[in-house]
Amino acid sequence: MKGAAAWLKLRTSSRCAGKTIGFAPTMGALHAGHMSLLKRAKRENDLAVASIFVNPTQFNDLRDLKRYPRTLAGDIKKLEAEHTDFLLLPSAGDMYPDGYKYRVNEIAESEVLCGAHRPGHFEGMLTVVMKLLNLVRADRAYFGEKDYQQFHLIKGMAEAFFISTKIIPCPTLRETDGLAMSSRNRLLEMEQRLLAPALYKALRSQARPSEIKKRLAALGFKPDYVEDRWGRRFAAAKLGKVRLIDNVKAMPVP
Ligand code: PAJ
Repeated sequence: MKGAAAWLKLRTSSRCAGKTIGFAPTMGALHAGHMSLLKRAKRENDLAVASIFVNPTQFNDLRDLKRYPRTLAGDIKKLEAEHTDFLLLPSAGDMYPDGYKYRVNEIAESEVLCGAHRPGHFEGMLTVVMKLLNLVRADRAYFGEKDYQQFHLIKGMAEAFFISTKIIPCPTLRETDGLAMSSRNRLLEMEQRLLAPALYKALRSQARPSEIKKRLAALGFKPDYVEDRWGRRFAAAKLGKVRLIDNVKAMPVP
């Protein structure tokens, strides 16, 4: 469904009346990680709603926005196979009738980890998620723990602004070699793809964050950070042009 207005009409129609709605917002190039959110949305609600919107305001790097993979025809097939009831496909004009004059800003935890390396990213992300939550008015919205800081900030925003949608975390889906699934993985060159699972392996080691950072650099990554927070261990590192992020529950000290 294209456009916010079309959706709003449907949202208030008899097709949705009295039905519970589970929502998973995405930027498309759908993989099994995204689909796990939509499967759960379908399982726990009467209707499952997906959105695909490559949100320009959360890209701090224009080149990253330009090369972001777009695979709409394949995405639609995947959504149909999982019986997703509605797909929202808004344009930038639909989402930003105000020209992005109004923004949602968090001033503490959005400054750390990825926030320290991607200026404006979380402001753009929180703003678009707030807009999507207000449009869809779902009972439950599902977010992946792969982007744990994102989930954490969205949950905080929903509480701060009395949004009634329940924000639900979902486990990270991984490739068989441990690499966290991500739309950007398809941008990795073959050698980089072979090296990429080392990020997850390094995160799970008993070494200190500073030691892990050194190890990643020695392997050929350009690490942004390796850091413990919220009972988890987080890392972000670049392989060529592709920035990978991952996190795991903090390992108990033996
Ligand atoms: P996107 O990267 O497309 O991710 C959409 C949702 O899928 C997010 O909740 C993300 O955490 C989840 N996800 C991605 N990879 C996953 C994996 N391997 N396992 C489980 N879940 C995974 O995150 C965004 O888009 C955007 O920031 C968005 C929230 C849509 C706002 O624009």
